[in-house]
Amino acid sequence: MRIVVTRRVPEAALDILREAGEVWMSDVDRPLSPDELRKAARGAAAIVSMLHDRIDGTVADSAGPGLRVVANVAVGYDNVDVAALAERGVLVTNTPGVLTDATADLTFGLLLALTRRIAEGDRLLRARRPWSFHLGFMLGAGLRGKTLGIVGLGQIGQAVARRAKAFGMRIIYSGRSRSAAEAGLDARFVPTAELLATADVVSLHCPLTPETTHLIDAEALAVMKPGAFLVNTTRGPVVDEPALADALLHGEIAGAALDVFEKEPEVEPRLLELDNVVLTPHLGSATVETRTEMALLAARNVAAVLSGGEPLNPVHP
Ligand code: GLV
Ligand code: GLV
Repeated sequence: MRIVVTRRVPEAALDILREAGEVWMSDVDRPLSPDELRKAARGAAAIVSMLHDRIDGTVADSAGPGLRVVANVAVGYDNVDVAALAERGVLVTNTPGVLTDATADLTFGLLLALTRRIAEGDRLLRARRPWSFHLGFMLGAGLRGKTLGIVGLGQIGQAVARRAKAFGMRIIYSGRSRSAAEAGLDARFVPTAELLATADVVSLHCPLTPETTHLIDAEALAVMKPGAFLVNTTRGPVVDEPALADALLHGEIAGAALDVFEKEPEVEPRLLELDNVVLTPHLGSATVETRTEMALLAARNVAAVLSGGEPLNPVHP
């Protein structure tokens, strides 16, 4: 059985896949083009995909009727047309849990870099600009007593809330429904509009869906406090990037930290010019441990399905 792997994965995951079938792995150091992807998919029983691969009905049709599972090496699966695959009897799996702490850690790193101007200070020194300590020099915003607004209190949102509590922050959250986790976190459920209007830091942890696309648009940014910060470590299209650049240029909010972008790998050029913006290239899950666990989990999902068992992490349309 042919197993197609769209981008290099760690050896340990390959070992599992080789037990399960005949592995073809892309050896180019870039995402496959849509055409290359369809070509590679031909005859596949399983596809191990990355978040930059658009896996839709045309890819499944190219694979043919033998395709049984698409294992996306990510917790998010907005890149996969789950409904189109379900129609063709193809299972889809993701990698929840194993990247929760890594992503929450990066979120907090960005939040601190933004509010304490860490990247900006680093740039100042590298530019060899003169400076001296004084009481008003490069002041940032403290976190104790401030309100963190979490949009989407799933596993990652909860892990961010736990970190925020250790920093003395108050937690409010919004989302499709109330979470049973709220009591343990002292988190208060509020409508998204109220969250935007009251939070000192807004951190996005909702999945990308039609409902959350451009959730943070010009209107939402206008509702936020002028001193508020926005952090996005979920998916780029949750934020209208040009609208964010406008809001930052007009001082409607205090700053933004982004790990994800609307049209990766591109970044809205005006954001690159702003000192109150911190940018990282989609590094949420990027630790050795986590990326290995993610690949292993995807490989185990493939092995389970190809051996006739149930997938460990099925997702549904
Ligand atoms: C990363 O962005 C993921 O969804 O795993
Ligand atoms: C990720 O696992 C989430 O539900 O946020």
